[in-house]
Amino acid sequence: VLCWFYVFPVYRVPRDKDIMEEVLRQRGIWQKNQTGIDLYRKLLTDCCNPQRMFAVTKENSPVGKVLWYDGEFYHWHTVNNKTYSLFVQDNPLDVPLKKCAVVGNSGILRHSKCGRDIDQASFIMRCNLPPLSKEYVEDVGTRTHLVTANPSIIEKRFQNLLWSRKAFVDSMKVYGSSYVYMPAFTMKPGTDPSLRAYYTLADTSSNLTMLFANPEFLSTVGKFWKGRGVHAKRLSTGLYLVSLALGLCEEVTVYGFWPFSVGLDEHPVSHHYYDNILPCKWFHAMPEEFVQLWHLHKSGTLRMRVGRCP
Ligand code: CDP
Repeated sequence: VLCWFYVFPVYRVPRDKDIMEEVLRQRGIWQKNQTGIDLYRKLLTDCCNPQRMFAVTKENSPVGKVLWYDGEFYHWHTVNNKTYSLFVQDNPLDVPLKKCAVVGNSGILRHSKCGRDIDQASFIMRCNLPPLSKEYVEDVGTRTHLVTANPSIIEKRFQNLLWSRKAFVDSMKVYGSSYVYMPAFTMKPGTDPSLRAYYTLADTSSNLTMLFANPEFLSTVGKFWKGRGVHAKRLSTGLYLVSLALGLCEEVTVYGFWPFSVGLDEHPVSHHYYDNILPCKWFHAMPEEFVQLWHLHKSGTLRMRVGRCP
């Protein structure tokens, strides 16, 4: 089925081919730019205050606080004693984080041999509970400090945790003692699966710590990028994490961001490093997002790895 945006593109994004030619031209050149890093940290702090707001905490969401579900004017969650007890006290991250790696899931990671590079970072963020099995280790690494989990994964992959919870608990072990970052209060149907994931980890004395993404933070980050030419209804998970990293880290390198079906060597690239299942809904935003990330790479504010790591 064709996504409708393919048929009626509304915003002008450079053609994939133009983007790739530009990447090829600039690929070898990169220099860290401290002024750009400081500027983006300030811009993101002013708009979105990631340090205080990225997660729902006891400090920023006391009992009685209303958490608005995204785009749903009539739906909200009022923090009560029960939900309050699930929140961490305060931002648990030791800010500023030093060398951060944000790992997207693009097929560009396949045969990249970036695993070692990624594992050398001091804080590693990954999206949507990605597989880290042996066959991928060389390309994506093994370590994780924060991993996002979409409630839809809990529903689809783990039968909403209504039956056996073992498969979920076992599959989470590859993330060691990292933070699991779930948008529990972003869409109403996501709350229950997220709370079930929380209790499953808590009841099995898991080493992982659940952090609920703060809907206010996600919404302000969305507005920040809207003002910079990313017009899709919702940002991709990867861009939220890059925004978080730009706000909290001294240095940011991103891997696995390549929303195109061919690589710089003109070989086909699968959508993910582990499968080629294309999303319909938000896919169109990714090239727009890529252009923004590429600007940040060119200006030395972050480093983007495309293709093989040295
Ligand atoms: O849920 P979502 O579609 O946002 O993410 P995903 O497919 O699990 O991939 C994680 C992130 O990697 C995305 O949010 C994008 O930012 C990035 N990505 C990319 O740049 N190019 C791709 N072909 C696939 C993912």
